[in-house]
Amino acid sequence: MEYVEPPPAPKSEEEKPEEKFRKVLIKPDEDRQIAIQKAQVRDVQEILDLVNGYAAADVMLPRGPQYLYENIRDFVIASDRNVPVYSMMETREELHLIVACGSLHVLWDDIAEIRALAIHPDYQHLGLGSKLAEYLMEEAKQLGIRRVYTFTLTEEFFRTIGFKRQKREELPPKMWGECSRCPKYFKCDEVGMVKVL
Ligand SMILES: CC(C)(COP(=O)(O)OP(=O)(O)OC[C@H]1O[C@@H](n2cnc3c(N)ncnc32)[C@H](O)[C@@H]1OP(=O)(O)O)[C@@H](O)C(=O)NCCC(=O)NCCS
Repeated sequence: MEYVEPPPAPKSEEEKPEEKFRKVLIKPDEDRQIAIQKAQVRDVQEILDLVNGYAAADVMLPRGPQYLYENIRDFVIASDRNVPVYSMMETREELHLIVACGSLHVLWDDIAEIRALAIHPDYQHLGLGSKLAEYLMEEAKQLGIRRVYTFTLTEEFFRTIGFKRQKREELPPKMWGECSRCPKYFKCDEVGMVKVL
């Protein structure tokens, strides 16, 4: 017998993207201790929370645990060490919180894609997105790759870090591999961008 998952419940009109994210008690900038490092398997759940928080608002592709585990070596994370977090029991705990992630996925000898770049809403505009992208581009260079691509809705951000818009028909066909799995397949609003390293 085949079991077919029921369709997800429709999103309510009032639901805001921020409500999907874990609430953090914001500390002054100088108290933040942010470290950027390669992800480990123990980080998978937090990365999923971050990426799927944005996917729920339709600004990123949703990811599942299988994708994360299989591609964990692609991922870098930024964590704010000892950020105070209010737990569900409303007690204050000192936790290690992942506040940003991003990944570099190699597709061919001269093609790597920046995927799943996500910065927690409370940590945006601190330069973290640029820093993670730099880290990933450095990895690409070390692998001998000279061009990185991305599909995005935030063209302006990628422009500030040196990416240029590229026509869909000029993108390497390998870049389309993920499109068949994308919920936006029939109504894609993302733009392709490239940076030569
Ligand atoms: C887009 C995103 C990765 C940017 O991360 P960030 O850490 O806030 O970016 P930075 O602080 O490095 O920004 C550098 C500059 O890029 C530009 N920029 C950043 N986010 C922008 C946005 N959403 N729209 C337009 N320009 C943006 C600004 O000029 C910014 O400089 P400023 O902070 O002095 O204004 C982040 O907003 C995010 O996670 N968005 C949701 C998920 C997403 O869209 N990911 C993109 C890949 S699919």
